[in-house]
Amino acid sequence: MARRLPPVIAIDGPSASGKGTVAQLVARDLGFHYLDSGALYRLVALAALEAGLNLDDGLRVSDIALNINTKFNGETVRIGSRDVTDAIRAESISGAASQVAALPGVRDALITRQRAFRRPPGLVADGRDMGSVVFPDATLKIFLTASPEERANRRHKQLMEKGIDASINTLLQDILDRDTRDTTRAAAPLQKSVDAVEIDTTGMTIAAVVAQVLAQCRHALRAP
Ligand code: DC
Repeated sequence: MARRLPPVIAIDGPSASGKGTVAQLVARDLGFHYLDSGALYRLVALAALEAGLNLDDGLRVSDIALNINTKFNGETVRIGSRDVTDAIRAESISGAASQVAALPGVRDALITRQRAFRRPPGLVADGRDMGSVVFPDATLKIFLTASPEERANRRHKQLMEKGIDASINTLLQDILDRDTRDTTRAAAPLQKSVDAVEIDTTGMTIAAVVAQVLAQCRHALRAP
């Protein structure tokens, strides 16, 4: 008999849609592992910039994606023994991550790494192509959206809480630019899978979104 793979809850959506926070809380509630796939693209971008590479250099950047030594431990992310948890969240790395994510060689190199997170009792994975490419057989696919203005406000609040000053207009423009790049690239563009449940989170609290996703999870995980 074929061995059943651990269940996956795939949570996709555009930048700053709240996926990360929601996915982490859902994973904690279910007792599942958590994959922040965007962090992998951010790690590759950071390493490529530090190696002085041109971010269009598909061969060299893909080589970094294949060989980078990353470690995830709770919220802490490392390259080798170096803690890069904060470094990969810088706004400059957000743009660079979106650039390296457009390289097909980088996406291919990261697929096996992402699938390795699928371990019992299950996985909640957040990103752009979790339901469409990495885990097409996911038990449940969620697509989270919110208006660009709401996403810019959320990012602004997050940055202010960290004591980082930023203009809402610049953040909104960055979000719109990244949306365009992430949805129009040839390799695995951000798109809602036909079998995904879409939740527009504009005006919703995190708690309300988590409750709605958990209700969907319970239903999907119970189904034979
Ligand atoms: O979710 P995030 O902002 O940390 O993602 C950083 C960048 O990586 C974002 O511009 C899109 C890209 N990304 C992707 O292409 N595919 C994923 N599964 C996750 C992120």
